[in-house]
Amino acid sequence: MYEVFGGGSETTATDIEWAMVELMRNPRIMKKAQVEIRRSLKGKKEVDEKEIKQLNFLHAIVHKTLRLRPLRPLLIRESREQCEINGYELPNKTRVLINVWAVGRDPNCWTNADCFKPERFLGSSITYTSTNFEYIPFGASKRMCLGISYAIATIEIVLAQLLYHFDWELPSGMKVKELNMTETYRVSARRRDDFYSIATPAQQE
Ligand code: HEM
Repeated sequence: MYEVFGGGSETTATDIEWAMVELMRNPRIMKKAQVEIRRSLKGKKEVDEKEIKQLNFLHAIVHKTLRLRPLRPLLIRESREQCEINGYELPNKTRVLINVWAVGRDPNCWTNADCFKPERFLGSSITYTSTNFEYIPFGASKRMCLGISYAIATIEIVLAQLLYHFDWELPSGMKVKELNMTETYRVSARRRDDFYSIATPAQQE
């Protein structure tokens, strides 16, 4: 039950918040995503799953957010036999922590690793279930997340609605650089501070 409620709702809600914060910090990317969504939906009242499939830039934003802000920053495994990794000998039953956060920001795998640039995922073969181990926000192997399709569908439809129907600004003249990005860990790795933003209904063409 914990996996279903904790894993199934807190994760997606937290990721949507991370994506919105990153978009607020990167107005160019926010604008580009809104243009893609608003062009694709052409004044429709509702966002539905058919349109979401065509929103390549939105898919890239979700990929990108999970690279920089993995919700499970550490994965735990235990060796089933003695083995050697990078010259280190691991006895049987060694507990190994895989640092997903560091993997997603490894400068050997990613150029400008700390930079939020969704374009790098456009046309890339790196995806959630691929065996590109520089990108493992849902884990890997047979214990990887069971809810990937559901999670991505939920995140994308909520983000698409938020970006389609509203324009966003920080409250009380707050500057982007004043956003505190300190992380904390509850069920998932999330922002320590609550995120507030003002929504104004968008003028649809
Ligand atoms: C963005 C959202 C989510 C992220 C980033 C995420 C990430 C993860 C990660 C990293 C693991 C551990 C994988 C491993 O050890 O290799 C995991 C396990 C799991 N996740 Fe998710 N998850 C998300 C959403 C969901 C949702 C929506 C559900 C269910 C509806 C779900 C169900 C599960 C379950 C059942 C496991 C345990 C799998 C097992 O131990 O065999 N997750 N998830």
